[in-house]
Amino acid sequence: MSLRQRHLLGIEPLAPDEITALLDLAERYVVLNRSGRKHTDVLAGLTQINMFFEPSTRTQASFELAGQRLGADVLTMQVAQSSVRKGETLIDTALTLNAMHPDLLVVRHPSSGAVNLLAEKVTCAVLNAGDGRHEHPTQALLDALTIRRAKGRLHRLTVAICGDIAHSRVARSNLILLNRMESRVRLVGPATLMPAGAADLGCEIFEDMRAGLAGADVVMMLRLQKERMDGGFVPSMREYYHRFGLDAEKLARAHPDAIVMHPGPMNRGVEIDGLLADDIRRSVIQEQVEMGVAVRMAAMELLADNLRAARAG
Ligand code: NCD
Repeated sequence: MSLRQRHLLGIEPLAPDEITALLDLAERYVVLNRSGRKHTDVLAGLTQINMFFEPSTRTQASFELAGQRLGADVLTMQVAQSSVRKGETLIDTALTLNAMHPDLLVVRHPSSGAVNLLAEKVTCAVLNAGDGRHEHPTQALLDALTIRRAKGRLHRLTVAICGDIAHSRVARSNLILLNRMESRVRLVGPATLMPAGAADLGCEIFEDMRAGLAGADVVMMLRLQKERMDGGFVPSMREYYHRFGLDAEKLARAHPDAIVMHPGPMNRGVEIDGLLADDIRRSVIQEQVEMGVAVRMAAMELLADNLRAARAG
């Protein structure tokens, strides 16, 4: 079981067998995380530094817990309060941290490509925790694990990804992963929230949500990312909910066993009905959070293996 890359910067470089191996390893961590003793020493002696240049609740907590459960020394930089505020560049910050000899660097950044750039400058393994509109690989992997557990497979599924696709690194990483695993992806949302060139991404596009959900096995809702919008992408929240908000009536178009997903944080009553989000017969939103810790443990273990092999060789 191994990853061919030194870093986890995106789903794009991963082959299907690597995705499957990572998810299989994560399954073992699901068991550990549900047990009374959640500790291993897989990362003992290694240092993990988390740098979040954008606000994050679950991803940051998830990476911290994952590192701690694997026995690493874990430091989370409060970037908003650090020298970055004083004008230090991303690269300077990275080189300063690199001098402290971290083994794993977890980075979230508002600019697409920033994490790749940083990975070129440091000697440790870098994990992308979300860069701009580009990629969010551990989110797509935790979504894949959640889907595989609910549906028993990752191939020949119809997955509707709905809402603010244009601003979403979650949509991009999921689209790449699901295509690679031979599932069919539909992107559903208003034309103003579709990325340019969406039609070339190997998916179907729907502006009518009921048509887009018809027969879907998985309905993945996305947050309306107002912080990445600079103007009138949607007429009003009410109108948006009416046309693209997931409620029981629209969900009835999907397969009767369809699961409902959302990466969080949710805008209840904007992209999803609050009661539906909490309905554990349909919604796997809490399970996604649980799978997040396991998937991050697996990813860090595989990258640490590579690091040790490189140092030994
Ligand atoms: C997502 C992100 O930050 O890209 N959230 C997450 O990681 N759980 C999606 C979002 O912010 O809407």
